[in-house]
Amino acid sequence: MNRQSLARLRHRVRPRAVPVRTDLAVGGGDRAPLPYASGWFGLALSREVPAGAVVNRRFMGRDVVLYRTRGGVLRAVDAHCPHLGAHLGAGGLVDGEHLVCPFHRFAFDVEGSCVKVPAGAPPRATLAQFTVRERGKIIYVWHGHDAAQPAWEPSELPDDGFAPAATWSTLLTSHPQEVMESFVDYQHQPIVHNVSLREVAPPVAEGPLLRISFSASIRLSVRLATITVEQGLVLSGLGLASGEVTLHQIGMTLGVVLMATPVGPWRTHLRVVVMAQTASRADSPWLRKAAATSWSALAGQALVRTIAHQMGQDARIWNWKRYEPYPPLTPGESAIDHYRRWARQFYSPDGLLTTG
Ligand code: FES
Ligand SMILES: [Fe+2]
Repeated sequence: MNRQSLARLRHRVRPRAVPVRTDLAVGGGDRAPLPYASGWFGLALSREVPAGAVVNRRFMGRDVVLYRTRGGVLRAVDAHCPHLGAHLGAGGLVDGEHLVCPFHRFAFDVEGSCVKVPAGAPPRATLAQFTVRERGKIIYVWHGHDAAQPAWEPSELPDDGFAPAATWSTLLTSHPQEVMESFVDYQHQPIVHNVSLREVAPPVAEGPLLRISFSASIRLSVRLATITVEQGLVLSGLGLASGEVTLHQIGMTLGVVLMATPVGPWRTHLRVVVMAQTASRADSPWLRKAAATSWSALAGQALVRTIAHQMGQDARIWNWKRYEPYPPLTPGESAIDHYRRWARQFYSPDGLLTTG
């Protein structure tokens, strides 16, 4: 390579000056300015925590232990025993209505109080608890700023009459706000997913809920039939999106729940759950049973596969993008602006300048 072409190459690879971004400086990384949001976050399916089970989950940089007593009471507690810090998810056991630590067998009741030790009187010790709810056969925990109690309930989820039929999950290098933003980012749909999606109405904010109305024709291949689906979604905070998907050709409605649960800073566990109706509306009991067992299972799996495929396409963007706090939006992207204004309520007033 002669000197001239070397000079040309040097010229070409010289980095462009990047403007100094003081708003991205918090925490020292490009991905720091979005802290943990308040709200409800999905940790498990109900069936993953049957009576007598002790299950460990990662949530916002710490471990949370879910357990269910023999009598059916569900609790989400700090993973570490207040005695000498043993991990209750590593060998802890349910004994009747108590959770028992594997280290010195201190037993805690459902209020978190230490009520029994192998010998003598139990010391005053309390196991910290998370606020937990079960809706639509999914287990959610609450995160509030400064330990604030729940300000709302995860009530918009498919509940009675629906049960998880298929599920898929992945770990993302992203934040729940970024993941949920994709539902109002209509412009990326044809580019990233080759799907045409039409905004029916601007997003409507109702406190912690954001109703998103769009119509999409997404093709699901179920054995020999190709089924077209239409959908809209409700965001319940930044951790949950849910909706009903109608498969007109076979007269079936499926529920979809997408959970974006922060396991650490810029680490999000994304889980998709497709719910099928446990009893179809068909008149004949035989048809009801057949619909419940075959079509809904097949359609549920096909829908999960379709969503998983799309989320995989999104993940290639999410895992590498950074959060742009002041994006230059085009006129067709006003839904993103709506969404971001609504999303501010989930951060403490000075939250956008603190790390989560
Ligand atoms: S550490 Fe749990 S009982 Fe001692
Ligand atoms: Fe997408």
